[in-house]
Amino acid sequence: MAPLDDAKPVATPDEEGTASPAAGRFLKAIYVYEVPVRVWHWVNALAIVVLSVTGYLIANPLPTMPGEASANFLMGYIRFVHFAAAYIFAVGFIGRLYWAFAGNHHARQLFRFPFWDRHWWGELFVEARWYLFLERKPKLYVGHNPLAQFAMFWAIAVGSVFMIVTGFALYSEGAGQGSWQDRLFGWVIPLFGQSMDVHTWHHLGMWAILLFVIVHVYAAVREDIMSRQSIISTMISGVRTFKDTEAPADGEHERSVKKVARAG
Ligand code: HEM
Ligand code: HEM
Repeated sequence: MAPLDDAKPVATPDEEGTASPAAGRFLKAIYVYEVPVRVWHWVNALAIVVLSVTGYLIANPLPTMPGEASANFLMGYIRFVHFAAAYIFAVGFIGRLYWAFAGNHHARQLFRFPFWDRHWWGELFVEARWYLFLERKPKLYVGHNPLAQFAMFWAIAVGSVFMIVTGFALYSEGAGQGSWQDRLFGWVIPLFGQSMDVHTWHHLGMWAILLFVIVHVYAAVREDIMSRQSIISTMISGVRTFKDTEAPADGEHERSVKKVARAG
């Protein structure tokens, strides 16, 4: 199937068998996640796995190594991998932030927390009930569902900033006074108290993000099976496909139909 963009919903034949894209009976497939979002998603996921494994080992070093201590550089390599992944993580995050401005409106969702939107909170609770097996039918969403958006905002948008700020503050201790890490992030250590406090918070940040990851992967697989729309393939191809004929709950259907109608 050819990828479709937001402005071009596909209408499939209605009960009478007449397919009319302009009438836009219902969306069948729509291009949601652009290439930078998808590339960032998978690079970022890999970076987080590497950072968590190496971070865990920094906090809990392996007890012994065979041979002379001088023949081993294991902790050095582990820290090197942590720092290399940290730079990929930080640069990737800045790139993703840029794409929130340059990309389509789905690219902005990760950074938005519509606190004042009562409708959004209502939808969030419906979605929570669906995840708790208390709703019979899931709603359709072209972008992220409100519960996913809520979790992603706190764990990834806010969580990444927290890990980058505390991580570079710790890094500044090695880079030394006057280094750019020290100048930009040195203030964080006295703010938390002392170096060990920053270590502890950075460490706790890892568990908060990992908690999100566990629930996120479970939800992605569960929704791929149980919801009425594609999920995992959407983060690979960018295209959301719908399995039945109802309109999505995030208003995308109406927006797209209006656009098509305007285009004549
Ligand atoms: C460290 C691991 C992971 C992290 C931190 C993570 C984080 C995220 C974030 C932040 C988004 C929102 C993307 C955006 O709007 O820019 C997202 C979406 C998504 N992720 Fe992950 N992810 C991880 C692993 C995975 C894995 C292993 C899968 C597959 C099973 C997966 C499947 C998805 C899917 C399907 C979406 C789109 C959900 C939707 O269609 O609304 N993720 N993820
Ligand atoms: C999701 C992202 C990250 C995770 C999960 C993570 C995880 C961890 C963990 C668990 C530790 C051990 C803390 C302790 O108990 O002492 C650690 C240490 C550290 N991390 Fe991260 N980190 C992340 C991002 C970053 C970033 C962006 C930087 C920036 C350079 C960074 C730099 C450091 C430094 C300098 C240390 C201390 C190393 C040492 O004392 O030998 N981390 N990290």
